[in-house]
Parts: sequence; structure tokens; C-alpha cells
Amino acid sequence: MSFKITLEPSGLQFDVAADEAILPAAIRQGVGLPYGCRDGACGSCKSRLMAGEVKHGQHQLKALPVAEAEQGFILTCCAVPQTDCTVQARSVPGAGEYPVLKLPTRVISISRPAADVAVLKLQLPANQNLQYRAGQYVEFILRDGARRSYSMANAPHLVGSPPAIELHLRHMPGGKFTDHVFSALKEKDILRMEGPFGSFFLREESDKPIVLLASGTGFAPIKALIQQLQLKGSPRPAVLYWGARRRADLYEHDWCVQAAAEMPHLRYVPVLSEPTADCAWAGRTGFVHQAVMADWPDLSGHQVYACGAPVMVESAQRDFVARCGLPEAEFFADSFTSEADKHGAAA
Ligand SMILES: Cc1cc2nc3c(=O)[nH]c(=O)nc-3n(C[C@H](O)[C@H](O)[C@H](O)COP(=O)(O)OP(=O)(O)OC[C@H]3O[C@@H](n4cnc5c(N)ncnc54)[C@H](O)[C@@H]3O)c2cc1C
Ligand code: FES
Repeated sequence: MSFKITLEPSGLQFDVAADEAILPAAIRQGVGLPYGCRDGACGSCKSRLMAGEVKHGQHQLKALPVAEAEQGFILTCCAVPQTDCTVQARSVPGAGEYPVLKLPTRVISISRPAADVAVLKLQLPANQNLQYRAGQYVEFILRDGARRSYSMANAPHLVGSPPAIELHLRHMPGGKFTDHVFSALKEKDILRMEGPFGSFFLREESDKPIVLLASGTGFAPIKALIQQLQLKGSPRPAVLYWGARRRADLYEHDWCVQAAAEMPHLRYVPVLSEPTADCAWAGRTGFVHQAVMADWPDLSGHQVYACGAPVMVESAQRDFVARCGLPEAEFFADSFTSEADKHGAAA
């Protein structure tokens, strides 16, 4: 048994199998919907159910508060149709563009540019052509079936030959995957992964000026976006705000300085929340999203691309929209949710 989903306003239709949620069915069939974590934690897939009935799997209350659920909002990543449904959802054409592949990858190198950051270079099988958009992510499939998501830090035109992707991982002590990466993973090890996923990529049809906002390893997909802007020779003014606690956490500061020197339309603003006495930091301090608000009290004509810690992404979305006039539809983000976020207040 399957149910038919009709999307509004696009009119697109696709089928959902019994006991399948709407989003995985859309991804399987190449239908582009907005999403991030695929796991009920980030809220990026929030859409409105116009007709029909769904059963919601477990999700975070902050991703879909009770009041919004009562108004008919659903999370497509965990909403399982019980009837044919009509769903009002922004369509994201590029999100379903490339086939999702399962593939083995081999670790080429692991470097540690900061104490809690690992940069992995992974070789892709030459016979499977992983295509993706700058900003998208892959999931590692662990031995017990658990999955962990990481965003490509190189744009697709820079995968090279033989093809390789670059990922930036922050160590989360006690974390199932990053504990392994920081203690045991070595060159030539094989990791199983699946991708590409995600609707976080440049909306190239827009000519609005861009704010790129990263915290910690949220810099990874932002780096890929900058490479993409550079490839296109984009005339759009862009400003990169990269927030970290200390100078050492800005693990590719020199790369950013260089990119801003090479790209006439790019500016770079590093922001430290805990500059220490041993570092003669003369730059910006405080919370990175507040630095954006101080510089851009009116964001009504901008697009914002934000990535990193969930608290930063949530604060930026809330404050930019409420206080700086950013249109909600012009905020694009991947919130780096982890198990800790998924085991908060669940519904
Ligand atoms: C779309 C997306 C893209 C991402 N991209 C990146 C990226 O490019 N770089 C990056 O560094 N990260 C990224 N992340 C985050 C990444 O996927 C992992 O969540 C993160 O690396 C932690 O994985 P882990 O297995 O080490 O830790 P987990 O096992 O997820 O644990 C994380 C923390 O939670 C604690 N914890 C575990 N279980 C529980 C529980 N039941 N209750 C409470 N606390 C618990 C652990 O002790 C640990 O401190 C991304 C996430 C998403 C959703
Ligand atoms: S994609 Fe549905 S809540 Fe994150």
C-alpha cells in the first residue's frame, strides 16, 4: 500500500510506501524538499499539512513545538502518512538532483589543525561517481547501523583525480564516532558512507548580498560555498563571519585571509568569544551572530547561510528574522545536531 503526496504550490506528486516518512520517499524519488538532520532534531523540514493525516515519529519539541503542531505543521522527516496528503512545502529543486549512493571510502590522511578538530581526506571509489552540491553532506554508516553526518569542505569541482572529499570533524568527548576518529582511525581505513544529502547550498538564482556564518567546524560547508562563489566569479558581495572560542580554534584562518585577498567581493570577519590573554587578539569578540547584527542591523535585502552549533544557528535564525528584518525564506542552515540534541525534550 502507498499514499500519494501532493506538494503545494508546485503541484509535484510522489508516492510514499506504507510506514515510510514523507522526506525519505521524496529523497528516494529525487523530489527536492528542504531538510537538514533527517532525524527530527533541526526543524529544517517543517512544512504545513493542508489535507490528509500523518502519524509523527519521535522528534524534538524545539524542532516542532506543540503550538505549531496544533496549527497543522509537520516535520516531513518523521511524518508517516496515513492517507493521501497535500503538503505546503518550499520546493528546493537542487536537493534531489543527484543520486544518493552508498559507497566505501578509504582514509587518505588525517590532520589535526586544532586540538579538537580533525581534517579527513577520503578517497572515493573511481567507479562510483559521487556528485554533490557545495554545502551538502554525507553520512557515515557505523557498524551498529548508527549514522553520523559530515559536510563536504571541498566544492565538487575540487574533488580532484583520483576523487577525494575533505571533511572537518570536531571531537565530541563521549561521542560514538568522533571518539573513534580521535583515538583509533588511521590512514587506509575504510569507512562506509551514503550521500549526498541536504538542502544547504547556494541559491545561485538570487543576486542578493550574502552573509556566510559559521561556528567551529560549521566552517566546512561554508568553505565549499566560498570555493563555489570563486569558481563562478560571483559578483555578489559576501561576508564571512567565523566564530570560535579562541584564535587556535580558527583552524583555517590563513585560508580565509587568502580567499578574501583573492576574491574582490568577499570579506572575512573572525570573531572570538573567549580570546585568551596569551593571544594578542585585536579582532572582533563576542557571539558571532551578534557581530553580524551589529554590522547589519537591516538584513532585509540579504541571504544568510549559517552552519555549526545548533544554539548558534537557532539564535541567528530567530534574531535575524525578528530584529534585522531578514525574510524567513532567505535563511539557509545546517544545524550540526548530535545525539545530545536528539535526547533533549522529545515529543
Ligand atoms: C546535517 C549535519 C551536518 C553535520 N556536519 C558536521 C561537520 O561537517 N563537522 C562536524 O564536526 N560535525 C557535523 N555534524 C555533527 C555530526 O554529525 C555528529 O553529530 C557529531 O560529530 C557527533 O558525533 P559522535 O558520534 O562523535 O557523537 P554522539 O554519539 O552523537 O554524541 C554526541 C555527544 O552527546 C553525548 N550523548 C550521546 N548519547 C547521548 C544521550 N543519549 N543523551 C545525552 N547525551 C548523549 C555524547 O557523550 C557526546 O558528548 C553534522 C550534523 C548534521 C545533522
Ligand atoms: S530534517 Fe526534519 S527535523 Fe531536521
